[in-house]
Amino acid sequence: MDRDWLDELLAKTDLVQLVSKYVQLTKKGNSYWGCCPFHHEKTPSFSVSADKQVYYCFGCKESGNAITFVKKIESVESADAIKLLAEAAHMPVPEYKGDKKSADLKNKRERLSALMREAALHYHENIYTPGAKAALAYAEERQITSMIKKFGLGYSLGNREIIDYLETKGFTPAEMKEAGIAEQSGDTYYDVFMNRLMIPIINPYGNVIAFGGRLLEKDSKFAKYRNSCQTVLFDKSKVLFALNLVKKKKQREHLDSIIVTEGYMDTISLFKAGFDNVVASMGTSLTLDQAKLLKNYCNKIYISYDGDGAGQKATLRGLDILESVGLNVRVVPLAGGMDPDDVIKREGAAGYKALLDKAVTLTTFKINNLASQYDLSDPDGNSKFAVEAVKVIKKLDNPVEQEEYLMQVHNLTGYSMAVLYKQAELYEEPKIESEPKREPSRRDALTAATDFVLASLINEKPYADFNFDVVPYLTGDNEREAYRLALEKYKMKYSLQSLFNRADERYADYVSGLVNYDFVPGDDRKKFEECVYLIKRRSLEVEKGKLEAEYEATKNIEILSKLKDIEKKLTQMRKSGGFIS
Ligand code: CTP
Ligand code: MN
Repeated sequence: MDRDWLDELLAKTDLVQLVSKYVQLTKKGNSYWGCCPFHHEKTPSFSVSADKQVYYCFGCKESGNAITFVKKIESVESADAIKLLAEAAHMPVPEYKGDKKSADLKNKRERLSALMREAALHYHENIYTPGAKAALAYAEERQITSMIKKFGLGYSLGNREIIDYLETKGFTPAEMKEAGIAEQSGDTYYDVFMNRLMIPIINPYGNVIAFGGRLLEKDSKFAKYRNSCQTVLFDKSKVLFALNLVKKKKQREHLDSIIVTEGYMDTISLFKAGFDNVVASMGTSLTLDQAKLLKNYCNKIYISYDGDGAGQKATLRGLDILESVGLNVRVVPLAGGMDPDDVIKREGAAGYKALLDKAVTLTTFKINNLASQYDLSDPDGNSKFAVEAVKVIKKLDNPVEQEEYLMQVHNLTGYSMAVLYKQAELYEEPKIESEPKREPSRRDALTAATDFVLASLINEKPYADFNFDVVPYLTGDNEREAYRLALEKYKMKYSLQSLFNRADERYADYVSGLVNYDFVPGDDRKKFEECVYLIKRRSLEVEKGKLEAEYEATKNIEILSKLKDIEKKLTQMRKSGGFIS
């Protein structure tokens, strides 16, 4: 994407007006304030700066420009956020000017996407033809007939039917193979999904990207489900089945939570029962990409996996990943062998709702899961369980939470709280400081100085300038990236808000922290110079420490001379009140 074009787009977009479409804003001074759309709150802590054209929430720390705002609030990728803004600004999106390879890939995706759409429509039409009686009967038996249209379910009539059909639409068998529909045997191609009930997997942009195909027969030597292989359109680890429907729901109304099931049928069955905030992870345990995807939509996840051993193991892995991206996770309890679809069949929507209400937190789920592996009526089993459970609880970083769960273990085992605390070593005597406390506070001072200097440069404070070349002294990649951006912005006269697009995604959080840095009235040239001094001195000291150790080990004379250089610089700094050339 052309950066000048992006700058023009941002210049033409008024962030205050944009945000006002979603949030009621009130003007206070130079900023506009409202309740944050990204976390739940009653008193406004979401601010939009009309001058800077950036937003910042003092509650949840979300921040960014018009593009990041649309991305987040519409749960779309950057490209689509830009398209939406461009439409509103009446700016045509420039033609894609990527290299030939990416242009080819884009053409390929468009072509295969069209193919998949034709295929899905055709499979769907097939299900109402006489040849698909068995498929309709199957849908009836599973009580999902009324969901055929909603999910675009279909049927594969046979060996070559879809291939012949797609050929009449101008697609080649080679393309069908690339899309994951056809397989090749010698010179002939055949339908991978022959005689299966077809479940299209549709991404949030409404494109069919893959299929799941279920056998109709109960007992067969073939796999119950077949899924599309990985293609240029489909990477199973980055996709959730039915997320397209959840996205539509979110656009209609507030989305409080998402239920994640393992299977297509569980999702379809729950949807039919009125739980329309449901997706399927399609068998495997959740990946980090899927967790991040969910985080785009809401903050609360109900994991509703099968109540069998495999399901439980997958649940545990999935839970940790979900929590690692900051999602609030609940596990829906399911009796052994049952899946959500079974619950709906046997106990109806009310039965499933009761389970949702009984959903437990990650830690409770882990504790219960451990408890089921030991015989708590046996002293040996009981104590082994307590030891394991306490290990889980020790990982929690909050003492109140720890107490909460130790109480659960206390109730399960009968051990006193005191003994459980001892086991957890929560009663750790405050250690007599053996390591000097200075180390962390010195590091913090360095971090604070670095942030202040970089924030001053990025915000082009009158007292900040680039004459003190601090680059060689910056230790982190994010710090160097921030400096590079600040300098580029200064030279090219870029706007502050455009930094959100210029920053490498890995460093975007750090950079946005600097853009929104809380300057205080006392910030001045003196402080700026002192901070630069601190950065340089500390970095020289660190370097000196390393060289000293190296010299100790090697007695290498070259290292000694480097060491002397650094010492000279440090002495010089002290004498000159801080500055070296
Ligand atoms: N799965 C798969 N291949 C298989 C079995 C399962 O890809 N041979 C995936 C499918 O995405 C399936 C999910 O794992 O939906 C969960 O499997 P299972 O619990 O067996 O599926 P259900 O949806 O309960 O299937 P059904 O009710 O149709 O038997
Ligand atoms: Mn099932």
